[in-house]
Amino acid sequence: MAAALIDGRAAAEALRARLAITADFFKATTGRPAGLATVLVGEDPASGVYVRSKGKATREAGMESFSHQLPADTREADLLALVEKLNRDEQVDGILVQLPLPEQIDAARVIDAIDPAKDVDGFHVVNAGRLAVGADALVPCTPLGCLHLLKSHLGNLSGADAVVIGRSNIVGKPMAMLLLGESATVTIAHSRTGDLPALCRRADILVAAVGRPEMVRGDWIKPGATVIDVGINRVPAGEGKAKLVGDVAFDEAREVAGAITPVPGGVGPMTIAMLLRNTLVAAHRRAGLAVPEDL
Ligand code: GUN
Repeated sequence: MAAALIDGRAAAEALRARLAITADFFKATTGRPAGLATVLVGEDPASGVYVRSKGKATREAGMESFSHQLPADTREADLLALVEKLNRDEQVDGILVQLPLPEQIDAARVIDAIDPAKDVDGFHVVNAGRLAVGADALVPCTPLGCLHLLKSHLGNLSGADAVVIGRSNIVGKPMAMLLLGESATVTIAHSRTGDLPALCRRADILVAAVGRPEMVRGDWIKPGATVIDVGINRVPAGEGKAKLVGDVAFDEAREVAGAITPVPGGVGPMTIAMLLRNTLVAAHRRAGLAVPEDL
């Protein structure tokens, strides 16, 4: 039987509807909307599309969006000065500096300069550390979206064998921490892992976040496993066209898995929804309000 499809679009829509209610409540309680500042440096078209869609989603959820666009030749000191200004701005609850940054700017230094309480990407070492020790953290949006899909589909993850392919600070490592927090048994695999197919075949939960088109084949998957595909790879589709594929060979995997996220329409839509969630979490904490349980 073909795997169930985990519908990230529907899950993101449902979450965004709930977030809009919470955003209204926040505004009524504090007298101001929660605010997200985005910073885009340069003209990269893909980054421009992402940042604009984040701003649109923020406004649609009843929050304020402050967008800052700087030229590609911006000096690091000027970007750091803007971050400092946003750190001090009481209307700003979340700060997102879109990556990648131009080469004259050290991204690590910029992330370091963001107030951890406003770090809605969850990239600051303080938030990474808090996640690692199980304290209240702002958690990177993509792994948070993956966890939401996994828990909605499976319920309890306790005791499950989970394999995460990819060890990035943005997806792989925080994903592993979140799964560990749910009492799964977690293995992080990467480019030097020996016999990756055999390792994957043990996994009840398989999360692929490597950025290599269709690397995970159908015969790497344990029958009935839940597969979360984080990959978004643009590949040629003939006649000069391109199509999006994940890190998992979808048609093969679908014959074996119990459930799988499609690309597009799986993890992707959850990422922006989680950015809105993190902004509301940051806003509540900064205002001294309890963060609603179901956020
Ligand atoms: N570039 C691609 N994805 C992201 C993201 O989630 N956050 C930021 N800041 N930049 C990105």
